[in-house]
Amino acid sequence: MASEHVQDEKKQGQALVTENKQENSKKLFIESYGCQMNMNDSEIVASILAKEGFNTTSVLEEADLVLVNTCSIREKAEQTIRKRLQKYNRVKQKQNRKMKIGVLGCMAERLKTKFLEEEKMLDLVVGPDAYRDLPNLVKEVEEGREAINVQLSKEETYADVSPVRLNSNGVSAFVTITRGCDNMCTFCVVPFTRGRERSRDPQSIIKETLDLWNDGYKEITLLGQNADSYLWYGGGLKKDFVKASEIAQATSVDFSKLLEMVAIAVPKMRIRFATSNPHDMKIDVLHTIAKYDNICKYIHLPVQSGSTKILKAMNRQHTREEYIELIDNIRTIIPDCAISHDIITGFCGETEEDHKETLSLMEYVAYDYGFMFAYSERPGTLAGKKMDDDIPADVKQRRLAEIVALQRDHSHVRTQEFVGKTMEILIEGDSKKSNLHWKGRNTQNTMAIFPKTGNEKIGDFVMVKINDCTSATLLGEIS
Ligand code: SAH
Ligand code: F3S
Repeated sequence: MASEHVQDEKKQGQALVTENKQENSKKLFIESYGCQMNMNDSEIVASILAKEGFNTTSVLEEADLVLVNTCSIREKAEQTIRKRLQKYNRVKQKQNRKMKIGVLGCMAERLKTKFLEEEKMLDLVVGPDAYRDLPNLVKEVEEGREAINVQLSKEETYADVSPVRLNSNGVSAFVTITRGCDNMCTFCVVPFTRGRERSRDPQSIIKETLDLWNDGYKEITLLGQNADSYLWYGGGLKKDFVKASEIAQATSVDFSKLLEMVAIAVPKMRIRFATSNPHDMKIDVLHTIAKYDNICKYIHLPVQSGSTKILKAMNRQHTREEYIELIDNIRTIIPDCAISHDIITGFCGETEEDHKETLSLMEYVAYDYGFMFAYSERPGTLAGKKMDDDIPADVKQRRLAEIVALQRDHSHVRTQEFVGKTMEILIEGDSKKSNLHWKGRNTQNTMAIFPKTGNEKIGDFVMVKINDCTSATLLGEIS
């Protein structure tokens, strides 16, 4: 998770590289925008293409194939990616005429053939469920034809593909557990770009986690658009569960059970997960988090709005009061749990009164941190089709600034609560500002910075005494 309070798509584009195989001769430049799931998907793509003779490179000019894994969540994300495509095209025109350019992910799925028409230099368009077809598609492109596959799937979970870990610190890794989303929040493009929800075989999740542990990894994040709604009954769409056989239903594995299975199978691995949709978060999950030391005491629980009226318009399946009840349960069952949020300001019909309800909900929860956005209408969504985007941009921005300021205060209150305490930190690498300091996070996901002593290394768990803090970072020393 970024420590920025407002997510900025521009900062998220990352050229991804890894250790390379000697026998591979072709060069792949792959860049990822958007959510953690996209980062993990790019690792799956790199793994599939490694078998086709591609090594990753961070040098755009020398690439045979340039792929950008795209995000459609807000208009700004799409604009950022269009600018990147122009940049690739300039490099192709001037320095590397043989270079092929492709788009993956949500924009590919949303725009389909229109993307090829609009961006003349594109060679390849591939949706999130079609990455297994990349070897064929790339061959087409190498032979000089355009190629496209935007087929969505009922089954695809890439369960058997071992992701090539890109830009990895060797400590933390993502493990995808569900794909797609059935929730149909009216503002959200994800159900259209990533298709219906399906879960991955728990045994393949455990195997991947064990492999990561054996490779020296110490922390995993179980990923799903909607992780808490995980449900394995032998494969297939979540919505078809009721039609599954009695045996499949009786032996099904839900999210709480999956968490427990992973926690027991790899008892020293730190386990995180994201994202929790409030209406899918069951009490069982809270008890499982409380029971196992290796499951982190941190929940990302997007609320979007504090007003029941707006939640209803967003098709979120809970009220303000039900959300508060869930927060109360978290506080009772896991007293030291950190909680973060996503909030949208200026959704269709949001009045000053609704906005004040969001502020008052924030006051009630005092979140550790959050990701905040101004509403961006997305074509094809229910809100895009049926609702009036009636809040002026300056009002959206002013409300956004108010929640960002309030969150900063709350974040500072939360980090101050750690001052004077000693806690376990997993060392992730050098601090950004100084290679004399380490950075690493506590179980609550708060970043700590502390001087190196010379006796510890990346991937070690160390006890750190916190002496000071900013609103986002703890400052301490190894005790
Ligand atoms: N379940 C997902 C949520 C996907 S989008 C997950 O894994 O995180 C992440 C956040 O983007 C949402 O929680 C929401 O706050 C924000 N978002 C989604 N659509 C948006 C839109 N049209 N305008 C502004 N923000 C949006
Ligand atoms: Fe989007 Fe709502 Fe699913 S925010 S990803 S439709 S839970």
